[in-house]
Amino acid sequence: MTGEEPLKLPKGFRKLSVTQRREALREALAPSEERVEALGADHLELADVMIESAVGYLPVPLGIATGFLIDGERYDIPMAVEEPSVVAAATYAGGLISSEGGFSSWASEPIMTAQVFLEGVAEGREAEILRREPQLRAELTAGLASMQARGGGYRDLSVRRLPDSGLVRVHLHIDVRDVMGANLLNTAAERSRALLEEMSGGRALLCILSNDAGRRRAGASFRLPVARLARGSLSGEEAARRIERASLLAQEDPSRAVTHNKGVMNGVSSLALATGNDTRAVEAGVHFWACREGRYRGVTTFRCTEGFLEGSIELPLALATAGGSVGLHPATALALKLLKEPDSPRLCRIAAALGLAQNFAALFALVTEGIQRGHMRHHSARLALAAGAKDEEIRLLAARIAEGGVFNLQAAAELLGQLRKGSP
Ligand code: MEV
Repeated sequence: MTGEEPLKLPKGFRKLSVTQRREALREALAPSEERVEALGADHLELADVMIESAVGYLPVPLGIATGFLIDGERYDIPMAVEEPSVVAAATYAGGLISSEGGFSSWASEPIMTAQVFLEGVAEGREAEILRREPQLRAELTAGLASMQARGGGYRDLSVRRLPDSGLVRVHLHIDVRDVMGANLLNTAAERSRALLEEMSGGRALLCILSNDAGRRRAGASFRLPVARLARGSLSGEEAARRIERASLLAQEDPSRAVTHNKGVMNGVSSLALATGNDTRAVEAGVHFWACREGRYRGVTTFRCTEGFLEGSIELPLALATAGGSVGLHPATALALKLLKEPDSPRLCRIAAALGLAQNFAALFALVTEGIQRGHMRHHSARLALAAGAKDEEIRLLAARIAEGGVFNLQAAAELLGQLRKGSP
């Protein structure tokens, strides 16, 4: 294929077998295109049932942030992520915090919300839905029997008329236990449709889960003696003060808060991806939560108190440990095994601690040496590989690049030449 020609995949591509699709992709790219093999050929039949038109898997590095102490228990946390410094930063911060008592964490019950929007409901008639709630409860209790048997199921509802559209919004709150809940919530919403239409005299416009997971929250906190934060000529007190200031900044300035929260999500989303969770749902929920008060804010806070830096986080987390795509691929099942087969609230607690550690690492770097030094240190290994270093050379060359502080391919190639000649 030349750069100008559009890619020609055959008609009915989605109807081919996964092997035929890969062949078609290779043909369309160029018969000699070898990178199709890089798409990962194991578990193809699984990819084929997970999504439509699958051609393989896109490999994302899986790393393990080791040695997190959370509620007195040790965890090694799997993280799938493409950004070089993320696992390193989590491991560093997790280790530092864990050496001083670790994280305390909590999680709420896994309550999610399904929405039914009704149009054409006469003024005041929405009260009828509340009056006849027991009928709806009975309907949903029957519909959610197996979830009910696992301790979850329908909990309650709320009804609101939306001021602009006049639509009546019914929220069904459901305990989904260890699943993310999308299928279950959508089924429940659709199951209650006819009854809600009859009760309200209106017609359902749409029924769907909400990714506002504000009732399924988790949090974590830690305390570090400020002495552990001293760096060079910067005292621990001053480093802690600067971290506190940076966290206040993320409460004040939304355009800083979004980057601050991106740092949190470096941890949370990497864990979500490693365990086969829906990263988009988790991220949508967190960003919605971040602006629940009308202004987008950071989801962590840091405070200095009597010789300690205290960090805490609270955020909605719809992380599942069963159902959907979670654990379906053996790699995600392995990730859950590494985490000691947690239930959903436990996974959410681990994610909260990881997100907090990730954010702490970012703020600590930002208010001390700056973020770029560490980032470029990690980038140097990529440069070494691109310059042609092999095996053990990669690490050696990366160290030389980082030491030299010149981060471009030409400098890397020169250093590789010197390395191979045995020059120091
Ligand atoms: C980079 O992936 C994340 C940071 O930008 C987070 C932050 O600025 O707090 C370093």
